[in-house]
Amino acid sequence: MKNLKLINLLLIVATSLLLVNCTTEPIYPEGPAGIDGVDGIDGTNGKDGATGTTECATCHNVGKSEAVHASYLFSGHAAGGAVGYAGSRASCAKCHSNEGYVDYVTTGVTTDYENPTAISCKTCHDTHTTFDFENEGYDYALRSIAPVQLIADASYTIDYKGTSNNCAQCHQPRRSPPTADEDGNFAVTSSHWGPHHGPQSTLLEGIQGAEIAGTLEYPAVGTASHRTGSSCTSCHMGATSGETDGEHTWIPTSTACTECHTAGIPNDGNGATGIVEGMETLHQLLEEAGILNGGHPHQGTYPIVVAEGAWNYLLLLEDASKGAHNPKYAKALLNNSIEALSTD
Ligand code: HEC
Ligand code: HEC
Ligand code: HEC
Ligand code: HEC
Ligand code: HEC
Ligand code: HEC
Repeated sequence: MKNLKLINLLLIVATSLLLVNCTTEPIYPEGPAGIDGVDGIDGTNGKDGATGTTECATCHNVGKSEAVHASYLFSGHAAGGAVGYAGSRASCAKCHSNEGYVDYVTTGVTTDYENPTAISCKTCHDTHTTFDFENEGYDYALRSIAPVQLIADASYTIDYKGTSNNCAQCHQPRRSPPTADEDGNFAVTSSHWGPHHGPQSTLLEGIQGAEIAGTLEYPAVGTASHRTGSSCTSCHMGATSGETDGEHTWIPTSTACTECHTAGIPNDGNGATGIVEGMETLHQLLEEAGILNGGHPHQGTYPIVVAEGAWNYLLLLEDASKGAHNPKYAKALLNNSIEALSTD
């Protein structure tokens, strides 16, 4: 049904453009010969018509539509694992259900939802805000590609200047790194403490880690090569390598990596050097310090450096890229946390 409607719309646009288009020839058919038997004078040529619908058809064609729907089935967004519970609660729904996100983007307010539905095409896509693609770029009819002011730090706004802003709206942390009380401690009050599952955009930016001083320096904010030379959409939605990746699967595609990593993906795709081993070491130290229990935050009051180490561990764990999003920042957070906790 949807497709039919769209095709109809496109036909209407196409027909209207045709009317403007064929003005290079006289519009009227040849009339009957005049009474004196002599033809009239030819009319002057019309002005060239505006560009036709060819450009629309690069995105709007049946093959593309089928490919998008097919690849979408492989995505975590379609799976919507957490939608039932998180999708219905006002505090979670803006990232976890279609209804919550749409309300959030259009009105800034979310409520509780009785029958929330999973993220779908119409969650992210709505209507075109521009057709002046040449001057204003493609908007892909996305509901929002505006810069994103962080939930955890309203003083910071992430702006990828493009479609990746769509991602940062949901893939951002919900809390800030711990700060010390007057005794130099921090109280963990919930077993759900931590940045929450989606800190990918802030890691890519190189912010929101607990920056413990140590041997490795923290790179300047916003300078990671993966931040300046690629993007959420280029790595996760780029052209498929032929495997099940890229496009609307959101599984990173190797075609996006080999543009820079001409010799192949570093570490065979296992993330940044030393991250996996380092995470095991840090995990062990945090279990010993008591702040983690079976991998989960354990309520209690801890020296700030222990809480900071735990924050960094949870941040890298929840980011789930094994440091790939920002290798230098991830390595510095991990290394300096281990150093601080080993000598503590
Ligand atoms: C700022 C956006 C945001 C908010 C608000 C948010 N989440 Fe999430 N949540 C995410 C993202 C993004 C993921 C997926 C991250 C990933 O897979 O790496 C996620 C993942 C999860 C998962 C794991 C899902 C799975 O299938 O593995 C659970 C459970 C969850 N969230 C529960 C909640 C609950 C409960 C709340 C409210 C108390 C909440 N979330 C609020 C963004 C958010
Ligand atoms: C989580 C957000 C999200 C959802 C859900 C989503 N899209 Fe997209 N879609 C995007 C973004 C972002 C882009 C632009 C990608 C880019 O910049 O390369 C896009 C691009 C597209 C394009 C242009 C693709 C191309 O290759 O030129 C089409 C068509 C499209 N989406 C259709 C759909 C359909 C149909 C669905 C549902 C099956 C859907 N989208 C679901 C975010 C989404
Ligand atoms: C770069 C890709 C792209 C181009 C070029 C493009 N569109 Fe779209 N358009 C989309 C996406 C993505 C959607 C939303 C998902 C869907 O409906 O497939 C959409 C949705 C639409 C819709 C339905 C939503 C609405 O606005 O009510 C219409 C109509 C539409 N486009 C018309 C056009 C026309 C006309 C052109 C050419 C002037 C055009 N589009 C060019 C990507 C594109
Ligand atoms: C409306 C909020 C929202 C938007 C917008 C959004 N995501 Fe997500 N994303 C989520 C949630 C929630 C999940 C977890 C789904 C689940 O498991 O329930 C998720 C899952 C994912 C996953 C899969 C993780 C897994 O565990 O399989 C990837 C990769 C991802 N998103 C990347 C992106 C990218 C790239 C963009 C931008 C084009 C984007 N997302 C836009 C909310 C969003
Ligand atoms: C340089 C390429 C690159 C960029 C840029 C990038 N990612 Fe990733 N992302 C990856 C890789 C590689 C992984 C690890 C995938 C794996 O191990 O399966 C990953 C993992 C993820 C995951 C976890 C997937 C899972 O299976 O749990 C999410 C969610 C995600 N990225 C979202 C984003 C978002 C949102 C952005 C933009 C803020 C982004 N990514 C930018 C390459 C990239
Ligand atoms: C714009 C160019 C560019 C693209 C695209 C790119 N990378 Fe990188 N990548 C770099 C540079 C430069 C470095 C080294 C500097 C750094 O760590 O930031 C790097 C570092 C890495 C590292 C750390 C290596 C180590 O030994 O610690 C990993 C892992 C990585 N990239 C994976 C990927 C993956 C996976 C993709 C595709 C999904 C990708 N990169 C796409 C430029 C790129």
